[in-house]
Amino acid sequence: MSSANSEALARVRATLERYGQTHLLAHWDHLNDPAREALLADIAQINFTALAELIDTYVRGNKSFPLPQDIQPAPFYPVQPGLERVGKYADAVKRGVSLIRRNKVAAFTVAGGQGTRLGFDGPKGAFPISPVRNKPLFQLFVEFILGTNRRYGSDLSWFIMTSPQNDAATRKFFEDNGYFGLKRERVRFFQQGVMPAFAPDGTILMEDRHRIAFSPDGHGGSLLALRRSGALAEMAAAGIEYISYIQVDNPLVKVIDPLFLGLHEMTGSQMSSKTIPKADDLERVGNFVVGDGRLQVIEYSDLPDELAHARDPRGGRLFDAGSIAIHVLSRSFVEQLTADEAHFALPWHRAVKKVPHLDAQGRWIEPTAPNAVKLEAFIFDAIPYASNPLILQTSRAEEFSPVKNATGVDSEHTARRDMNRRAAAWLHAAGFDVPRRPDGEPEGLFEISPTLALDGGHLREVIIEAPVIKAGQSHYWE
Ligand code: UD1
Repeated sequence: MSSANSEALARVRATLERYGQTHLLAHWDHLNDPAREALLADIAQINFTALAELIDTYVRGNKSFPLPQDIQPAPFYPVQPGLERVGKYADAVKRGVSLIRRNKVAAFTVAGGQGTRLGFDGPKGAFPISPVRNKPLFQLFVEFILGTNRRYGSDLSWFIMTSPQNDAATRKFFEDNGYFGLKRERVRFFQQGVMPAFAPDGTILMEDRHRIAFSPDGHGGSLLALRRSGALAEMAAAGIEYISYIQVDNPLVKVIDPLFLGLHEMTGSQMSSKTIPKADDLERVGNFVVGDGRLQVIEYSDLPDELAHARDPRGGRLFDAGSIAIHVLSRSFVEQLTADEAHFALPWHRAVKKVPHLDAQGRWIEPTAPNAVKLEAFIFDAIPYASNPLILQTSRAEEFSPVKNATGVDSEHTARRDMNRRAAAWLHAAGFDVPRRPDGEPEGLFEISPTLALDGGHLREVIIEAPVIKAGQSHYWE
């Protein structure tokens, strides 16, 4: 090792001593040069001064997310406008379409998560999901963008946030598949930040003798990542004003929605969100509430049980506005929030998880129970900072069926079923007979590419001749 390097090592050692993390160098003497470099690079990513406070508060301190004192249901724009709002919705659609035509909006997908619950070996967006063609999630989103371009004459860009763990695999997936027909220069990948995993005593865990156990810092990390990657500046240069935020796991999502965009713009909202009525009191979705006077989301795990079960005077669920993690953010809002890069942070959420790791004695620990603290930031914690934030209600059958688990609710099975149901419903609404089984499910498989139609009304406009539908068979239209 050169003398410059040994000086660098001495400095690192001193920092680690100051912060009680010297175990990170426990295996140093047994590492070759590339491994040493990798370890120093990992350590260099950590701001130990800032981390010390987080460790005190959230890791050793076990600080839970602070609930507001006063929690009230949140108002929202209903899925059906009602007479007083029909004109406003129609106007919003026009404005939204105009924004799309002028390429004032870009799609943005957070795809940096680890997808551990699904047990799929690869980026989650590569998971095949459509009922007939088995198209992966990423392809469905591309086709939505292509369908939007075709319908409105736009040429939209798509920003995709990956993490160090899945960046290379995600890019390769797009390369291998020719970007599914989207112009390559319209797709912009960038990586999100990471956070180390901690033992409950605050020490940082290692995943190898020369690697720190980092994991993605939550989709809330996307705001800083947008700035640090240069994506925000590129958006500004391209005249993109609005960011249509979606998560990678929902094949029914409207990647770009004129009504939603238009309402956002016309009301001067800085951050808007979509909601659906919850399936049950304890559904694992965030809850929109007004907390101490500000619109915000309380995650399912943080909502007190008595509030989850509370009823309104008519017997309905009091807190019924579930978050489906679909947002529009004004670019200027993200710029404003992250302007002071060094000091901007959304609140951290603490989760105790199973993290396999190498201990200081070089033993590989495969935990059977949660053993580590992970910290993540959530995008919806930006809502309280936004002016005029709005919520638009939508329908679950039309827009939400995420793939999160290997089996049961929110699984591959339910997502395929719901894609099939939606396609059958669109055909039925367009005036075509869809055969049904005795239990009411469509008899056969139905898939409509978003390149053909973006919603039921659109399908009615574009279908020229009656489709041939045969009970029990697979049908695909594009
Ligand atoms: C999330 C929301 C929940 C909402 C539900 C709707 C959180 C904490 N909760 O639940 O309120 O009702 O979706 O489906 O988000 N991701 C990253 N980087 C990360 C972590 C996640 O890009 O560091 C991405 C994932 O790739 C995925 C999305 O964020 O696209 C969702 O993450 P996940 O952890 O699966 O959230 P959920 O708990 O399912």
